[in-house]
Amino acid sequence: MGKNSQFINGFVGIHVSAALKRCVDYVLWLDNCNNYYDPTHKRASTFVGKNGIFIVEGDINDTVLLTKLFEVIHFTHEMYLAAQAGVRYAMQNPKSYIYSNIAGFVNVLEVCKNANPQPVIVWASSSSVYGLNTKVPFSEKDRTDQPTSL
Ligand SMILES: NC(=O)c1ccc[n+]([C@@H]2O[C@H](COP(=O)([O-])OP(=O)(O)OC[C@H]3O[C@@H](n4cnc5c(N)ncnc54)[C@H](O)[C@@H]3O)[C@@H](O)[C@H]2O)c1
Repeated sequence: MGKNSQFINGFVGIHVSAALKRCVDYVLWLDNCNNYYDPTHKRASTFVGKNGIFIVEGDINDTVLLTKLFEVIHFTHEMYLAAQAGVRYAMQNPKSYIYSNIAGFVNVLEVCKNANPQPVIVWASSSSVYGLNTKVPFSEKDRTDQPTSL
């Protein structure tokens, strides 16, 4: 890939990748296309698979896959949007949050740490971290020790 390439994931990521493609050479969109939301929409996105936006169906916990991708492609930036989304679902399936939002994120950071060059990382969190704050708009300086969900 070219000198200016992005590594990206998520549904928001599909739209971010289409927007970013206007200023970078290549975008690689990684998603495990799990079925929490209908994966056919993600796979059928008109942005993906053309015009320099590539899709890899894989998991952020797959260290071998991520390491190989970072060996082959010298990503300049990473936009980290992979997540187990939803608030109430955390009561039903808490392990899926640990798997994707904690273990997966740490795995991505570890792979990026060892990548050469190391990419710039932009990471999205959730407003759920601010719990039931009534003060709006939220601020990054607000307390985050009483989150709405796991
Ligand atoms: N959508 C919003 O309004 C909104 C608002 C604020 C913050 N956010 C945050 O932005 C991020 C993305 O949100 P979204 O709305 O795009 O969520 P989304 O569920 O649509 O997208 C997340 C993507 O991550 C993928 N994914 C989950 N686990 C994975 C794994 N282990 N490996 C690879 N891919 C995996 C899913 O298949 C999904 O396509 C989340 O952190 C969310 O909390 C979203």
